[in-house]
Amino acid sequence: MPQMSQIQIKLNAKSNLLPSSDKLGFGQYFTDHMFCLNYEEGPGWNNPRVIPYQNLSLDPAACVFHYGQALFEGMKAFRQTNGKIALFRPSFNTQRMSQGAARLCMQAPPEDLLLAGIRELVKVDQKWVPADRSASLYIRPTLIATEPFLGVRPSKEYLCYVILSPVGSYYKEGVNPIKIWVEEEYVRATPGGLGATKAGANYAASLLAAMQARTKGYAQVLWLDVNHHFIEEVGTMNVFFRIGDTVITPELNGSILSGGTRECALRLLYDHAVKLGIKVEERKITMAEVMAAQKNKSLKEAFGTGTAAVISPIGELHYQEQAWEIGNGKMGSLAQFLYQEITSIQYGEKPDLYNWIEQL
Ligand code: COI
Repeated sequence: MPQMSQIQIKLNAKSNLLPSSDKLGFGQYFTDHMFCLNYEEGPGWNNPRVIPYQNLSLDPAACVFHYGQALFEGMKAFRQTNGKIALFRPSFNTQRMSQGAARLCMQAPPEDLLLAGIRELVKVDQKWVPADRSASLYIRPTLIATEPFLGVRPSKEYLCYVILSPVGSYYKEGVNPIKIWVEEEYVRATPGGLGATKAGANYAASLLAAMQARTKGYAQVLWLDVNHHFIEEVGTMNVFFRIGDTVITPELNGSILSGGTRECALRLLYDHAVKLGIKVEERKITMAEVMAAQKNKSLKEAFGTGTAAVISPIGELHYQEQAWEIGNGKMGSLAQFLYQEITSIQYGEKPDLYNWIEQL
């Protein structure tokens, strides 16, 4: 496997300033450098390099523009209380990129080399990791098919690149509850499709429903399965419900993305179940079950989990022409517990019992 020393570094002659954390929002600013790695048949993956952040130059016939072979990942680096920089579960994301690449018939970048590139890039751009507890550095590895060819078959050339964006909260609501439209017309993914991958195509498929929800005053949609029966995800996040003392999240069924924060939340919920007085279930859950619980007042809270927002409480569900307030419209105790535990580990305020943190 290529060593770190093989990553060429070309520094940017210009250096921008990190905006103050209250200005960041999500994904609006980019750092001074990027990491790139190319694949061609024959030499395989080659030319790992950290270079100044710049436009890409691609042939207009590049497969990515026509048949959508495109995948991305999302992970974060944090400035911990001791001033050191930590990556949160980076190999979870490089592994998931490899799995997604297999589904899209793409060449996956070697995980060790991609990890080495991410570490090197974050080191070079370390001044961009915000010091504030409300902010972090979002890391966006991306894999695209670059062969100029219009026949429909997997590309023989790829570009993997990583860009960095200092971010604050994903939703303008921060960790305050958001309003969610239960989507009964469009679906995000179907069994046998791409739903379990972080293919750009899944996000393209989600835009129309999200946009229509927004025009009605809702931040995002609750995605149901193809028969509008089972619950799948919320917006770009996995979803959890607390009904009585049982916490339920949809089981991974091939059309739901296996979220990193979903895994962390489940680990913490299982490990603290006795203290929290809860039972945890990964299983199918229907909209009918959630509505029955809402009507008999046993639906205590609902929230999404994702890298960008960490935990996002749901304060209202709009379903079949009626709006239902969840948990008095406030952040519930489980959502608070998970947000606090996960962010305390990320910012180095609590011991990392799970080896989630990799200090640079
Ligand atoms: C996440 O919640 O981490 C996401 O996947 C959101 C991202 C697409 C901006």
